[in-house]
Amino acid sequence: MASQGKQSKHVSLALLVACWFVLLSSCKANPISKTEIEALLKWKESLPDQPILKSWVAHTNSSASSPCKWRGIACNNEGSITEINLAHAGLRGNLQNLDFSSFPNLLHLDLSVNKLTGTIPSNIGTLSKLQYLDLSTNSLNGSLPLSLANLTHLSELGVSQNSITGELDRRLFPDGTSLSKTGFLSLKIFVLQENKLGGRIPEEIGNLKHLVLLALDRNYFCGPIPPSIGNLSHLTSLILNLNELSGQIPVSFGTLKLTHLNLLMNRLSGSVPEEIGNLSSLVNLQLAFNNFTGQLPQQVCQGGKLVNFTAAFNNFTGPIPVSLKNCRTLNRVRLEHNQLTGYIDQDFGVYPNLTYIDLSYNRLQGKLSPNWRECQNLTALKLAGNMISGKIPKEIVQLRKMGYLDLSSNQLSGEIPAEIGKLSKLLKLILKDNKFSGEVPAGIGGLSNLETLDLSINMLGGPIPDQIGDCWRLQSLSLSKNYLNGTIPYQIGNLQALQDLDLSFNSLMGGIPPQLGSLSDLEYLNLSNNNLNGSVPTSLGSMVSLISINLSNNNLEGPLPEGKIFWSTTLEAFSNNKDLCGEIQGLRPCYASVIKKGGRITKSKLVVIFVASFVGALSLSITSVVIFLFLEKKLSRNMLKDESTSNRKNPFSIWYFDGKIVYKDIVEASESFDDKYCIGVGGTAKVYKVEIPGAQVFAVKKLRSMAEGIESEIIKNFTSEVAALTEIRHRNIVKLLGFCFREVHSFLVYEFMEGGSLVDMLCSEGATELDWPTRIRVVKSVAYALSYMHHDCVPPIIHRDISSKNILLSSDLEAYVSDFGTARFLKPDSSNWTTIAGTYGYLAPELAYTMVVTEKCDVYNFGVLVLEILMGKHPGELITNLNSSTSTSVPFKDVLDDRLSPPKSLKIANELALMQNLALLCLRANPQSRPTMRSVCRQLEM
Ligand SMILES: *[C@@H]1O[C@H](CO)[C@@H](O)[C@H](O)[C@H]1NC(C)=O
Ligand SMILES: *[C@@H]1O[C@H](CO)[C@@H](O)[C@H](O)[C@H]1NC(C)=O
Ligand SMILES: *[C@@H]1O[C@H](CO)[C@@H](O)[C@H](O)[C@H]1NC(C)=O
Ligand SMILES: *[C@@H]1O[C@H](CO)[C@@H](O)[C@H](O)[C@H]1NC(C)=O
Ligand SMILES: *[C@@H]1O[C@H](CO)[C@@H](O)[C@H](O)[C@H]1NC(C)=O
Repeated sequence: MASQGKQSKHVSLALLVACWFVLLSSCKANPISKTEIEALLKWKESLPDQPILKSWVAHTNSSASSPCKWRGIACNNEGSITEINLAHAGLRGNLQNLDFSSFPNLLHLDLSVNKLTGTIPSNIGTLSKLQYLDLSTNSLNGSLPLSLANLTHLSELGVSQNSITGELDRRLFPDGTSLSKTGFLSLKIFVLQENKLGGRIPEEIGNLKHLVLLALDRNYFCGPIPPSIGNLSHLTSLILNLNELSGQIPVSFGTLKLTHLNLLMNRLSGSVPEEIGNLSSLVNLQLAFNNFTGQLPQQVCQGGKLVNFTAAFNNFTGPIPVSLKNCRTLNRVRLEHNQLTGYIDQDFGVYPNLTYIDLSYNRLQGKLSPNWRECQNLTALKLAGNMISGKIPKEIVQLRKMGYLDLSSNQLSGEIPAEIGKLSKLLKLILKDNKFSGEVPAGIGGLSNLETLDLSINMLGGPIPDQIGDCWRLQSLSLSKNYLNGTIPYQIGNLQALQDLDLSFNSLMGGIPPQLGSLSDLEYLNLSNNNLNGSVPTSLGSMVSLISINLSNNNLEGPLPEGKIFWSTTLEAFSNNKDLCGEIQGLRPCYASVIKKGGRITKSKLVVIFVASFVGALSLSITSVVIFLFLEKKLSRNMLKDESTSNRKNPFSIWYFDGKIVYKDIVEASESFDDKYCIGVGGTAKVYKVEIPGAQVFAVKKLRSMAEGIESEIIKNFTSEVAALTEIRHRNIVKLLGFCFREVHSFLVYEFMEGGSLVDMLCSEGATELDWPTRIRVVKSVAYALSYMHHDCVPPIIHRDISSKNILLSSDLEAYVSDFGTARFLKPDSSNWTTIAGTYGYLAPELAYTMVVTEKCDVYNFGVLVLEILMGKHPGELITNLNSSTSTSVPFKDVLDDRLSPPKSLKIANELALMQNLALLCLRANPQSRPTMRSVCRQLEM
């Protein structure tokens, strides 16, 4: 009994305690907290189901339902939410159903690096205590809501797109070494989580008095920088790079305490206020790639803290800022491509931490100072295109970390220091177009990492040192336009990585060393304009990688070797020699029996070529290596070119932001996509010809599958991809002008092409209009377009569906590649790369066993297309035969379209033969041994 009484006492005590807890927690679950929970759950409900929010559930047991324990949530002592942090969480969905007004105590909101779409809701302005807001690296669009101006406690505001920072910087600042070659080669369509916020930066941003950091970079903000930013007295970092801002830098900035001011790549103009020099805390100032004029602020390093300073690619004039001379903190300096004046030896000082300096293409004079020796961390010194004179001081060779030394196009003279070989880290040594004399120092053999050596256009004499053969990493060697004599050292044959060898315009004597034939990567060989004699070594005939050869203006004699390059090259490459003979038109034939064959490429010769190309397949994995070098060169050049014209804006991108207007016009003009406007039907889309009154005619590709259960999220993911495609501009690519995604109708808007598709043309009476010169033009146009996409676009793009139906013709029969990159887009369900996209009859054979799509699939398709253009019909079985062992019996003389009369001129016949030959190379079974589109273009140009 007693125990029972004790027990019941326990129970009642427990009850009491439980009640007390309930009371307490219900007290804690005050109306605020309740609305907070509800607001979070309501938002979660509106989002796609995702594991990251698994902990967000309301329990009936009220103590467990406290959101303070949910993932990413933190509360204050009163149990009210102060922090929502779901950064890097893979979060999908949008913010429209997040009721910000339910979080009166929120201080910290971090949703950066997720996959959020849609706009920033304007009720975000109700988070009146918010101090930290980061929405960077999502897929948000629209403009900044004005209500942000009410968040007066904010100290950090970030909506930047920074996921590609590293990559972009690497591309913008290629040190020669840091550009990731492999990264670049993984050709993929650009898919990235990308904020596309636009419009003007509201003047009201000046209300955010506590702002310390404002990062709006990598968006589409346009218009001027609001001067009110100059009122933000706590601001230290203003990051606005990669937008489309115009106008001038507000003078009011001079009163700020900025440490980081990044305005890189906008359209800013005018002069930079001298007041910027008052920013005595400045660490990082980025002004490059704008349209600034006038002088650089002279006191830019007044505070003695400047580390990174770029002003490259503007139109700055006047002197180098005086304060740079003693700015010992400098790490990176880029002032290239301006019109700055000054003296290289007087205006620069000693910088122990300097790693990279580019002053190329300015108007600097003076001599190279021995002081550079003190910059022991220097990895790149680029001074090309100035008026620098005097000698190279021997102290330069003490810069042991030097990787990239470019002193080209100056007025330097004297000898190249004998000790230059001590710069063992050197990758690029470019001294061309100066007045260097003396000999090429033998010490050059010590440059065991050297990849590029260009000493051309100087006054160097004497022999080429044998030690050059020790620079075993050399890819490009140019000694042309000097006074070199002696023989060509056979040791050059050791340079197994060599792709480009130019010894032209010297006085070299003796024979061509047969060892050159073992340069299995060599693409360009120019030995012209020397005094070389003897015969051309037969070993040169087996150099399958060779694209161009020039042996003209020497004293060579005897027969040209057998080999691809010696058949496909024209007479000029061998002219003005003593007595060369061979099968090239215009050259004396070596043997009487050959005369019968004549100049045209005949069946039997093609068979040989074909066999030769198969032999070549083994060693042609080279091409992939070869493109690295060009990619790297071209890349930096393009980057600069594109950005300096800052023509990034697509006039139609407004469609994306304000889809309704154009959407309505198009739906109206096509009478809701009435069939009478339909001009084509494909697997996933119908194409309409739409004429908007008062505007041009468009081809509108309406996507069919949208209504059929494709998740709208997936479609959204593709919008950024398509947006990227709208930015592509090439003479031979149909312009994708804009796009609309709506539940009812989703479509892409293209330029309209009067001539229709190539396949229709080839299959119709019109085929005869496509005469041989036109067909040659079509092939070249497609080649250029593909080369552009593969090698000049950043990032590169693979078409994946090159076929005659995707080549469109204008009214004057100019060819345009259409549907670029949309192959994948049109099948949004194939979001990975494992689905075969493409057209039957064009599929590259490797797709049968690997699902990896590379640019070489496009090359294969191009090969099919070329044969189709020459034959007037799809080559069909011919291709299968090519890849089988019986390939030698391909009846090539039947190949040409018999609806046209045979080509009239020899020139055209030769071009067609070259195209046939290239098509065969493109159709090689091994993707690696297919040429790149760049090399195809080169050969078509010759
Ligand atoms: C800022 O807050 C005030 C007071 O709550 C409100 O009246 C005003 O509309 C808000 N401003 C914006 C731009 O939302
Ligand atoms: C740069 O400024 C000049 C005049 O100062 C103007 O003509 C030119 O169009 C501008 N360039 C760009 C790309 O804005
Ligand atoms: C300067 O630039 C280098 C290379 O881009 C970067 O790693 C470094 O962080 C920058 N330093 C500052 C202070 O911005
Ligand atoms: C650069 O400035 C010079 C001299 O002020 C002017 O002649 C030239 O047109 C400018 N170039 C550009 C691209 O603005
Ligand atoms: C050079 O860099 C080091 C390390 O970043 C730093 O400690 C040092 O102060 C710098 N020197 C100068 C002169 O700025």
